[in-house]
Amino acid sequence: MSVLQDKNVLIAVTGGIAAYKITYLVRLLVKNKANVKVIMTPASREFVSPFVLSTLSKNPVESEFIADDETWNNHVELALWSDLMIVAPATANTIAKMANAQSDNLVLATYLSQKSQVYVAPAMDLDMYKHSSNQENIEKLKEIGNKIIPVGVGELASGLEGEGRMAEPENIVDFIENDIQKQLSLNGKNILITAGPTYESIDPVRFIGNHSSGKMGYSLAKEALKRGANVILISGPTHLDLQHKNLKLIRVQSAYEMYTEVMKYYAGVDIVIKSAAVSDYKPKVYHENKIKKEEVELSLELEKNIDILSELGKAKENQFLVGFALETNNELENAKSKLKRKNLDMIVLNSLQDKDAGFKKDTNKIYIISKDTTVDYYETKSKELVAVDILDSIEAKLNNE
Ligand code: CTP
Repeated sequence: MSVLQDKNVLIAVTGGIAAYKITYLVRLLVKNKANVKVIMTPASREFVSPFVLSTLSKNPVESEFIADDETWNNHVELALWSDLMIVAPATANTIAKMANAQSDNLVLATYLSQKSQVYVAPAMDLDMYKHSSNQENIEKLKEIGNKIIPVGVGELASGLEGEGRMAEPENIVDFIENDIQKQLSLNGKNILITAGPTYESIDPVRFIGNHSSGKMGYSLAKEALKRGANVILISGPTHLDLQHKNLKLIRVQSAYEMYTEVMKYYAGVDIVIKSAAVSDYKPKVYHENKIKKEEVELSLELEKNIDILSELGKAKENQFLVGFALETNNELENAKSKLKRKNLDMIVLNSLQDKDAGFKKDTNKIYIISKDTTVDYYETKSKELVAVDILDSIEAKLNNE
């Protein structure tokens, strides 16, 4: 999952030899699941085929003010559509025109209509690049909020060596991803989330478990990753999977294994969300061999499991600790007392009296109770949207502290 996923990316190609590399840039962005459209200056069509760019981006490539369907305002539409614009390669000519609000082609008119972030990847020969007028223009573009992707150093199309090569497509994507990442609300925060049930083994083939699917915890992890957090997801047995470069997914079986893993990472995290449905009891004795059905009746002696959340509450330093409560009666009272007893900063209450909430469902209905005992009520929503509400609440509390 890239921060570019689902973003509308508009690439503006201008007339430099590096234009051929834009085919790779389009491929990389599409691979990262961005929606890509390409516009071109007339000159750039000499350097790279619009047909190839259209095929790779899966969208028509435009370079005229008046589109094929005779609409004339496509520069405004394209600017409004895009979440970000990349001018690459950006020639000295286009940079000069951008710096001076000229708009004699579709690329420039779209740039002037643009309200979202514009990234500029200059590409030109070394003396052109160094020329003080060009440097002034680049400075001016920076001052008015454009982000300049540093040029590379090396062999140039002219045969000379030096500064001026367009950054490689991978570097352009890295630059933009890092820039977006820096602006995300949970960038740099370390979040530990637990998900799913725990299985407490009776013998090699049997266990005590519960119906938790893990959906709530995985939705929370996904949303936290979207907001730029580094996530450690400690998951009991589920059928779910999640992959992301900022995610460490640790799979466990029993409450004790979950406890051990949680404690390993606790000191280094900022936020903990304990959405796992941890088994409260485990068999007192683990049978090494499968229990045979010899007797008419079989009694299992159970003993209390370690309460992970209470242990976290006791060891809490600066972490923001969020627990879950699943209640069937006296919901609010029980949840409030759980919050206090376990030394939490927030508790998310699900009531089993709500038919759309809880185990194995795709929806959930929650109340969020804070340490100051304020209660927020939420409508029934998909677990993805519930995750948004929970993280919004946590962020609001952290920003007010
Ligand atoms: N929890 C935990 N370790 C346990 C039991 C629960 O960390 N052994 C955590 C859960 O992850 C959840 C919270 O405690 O965040 C509340 O779980 P719940 O089962 O509702 O509450 P309990 O504390 O077990 O209390 P009770 O069963 O009496 O309602």
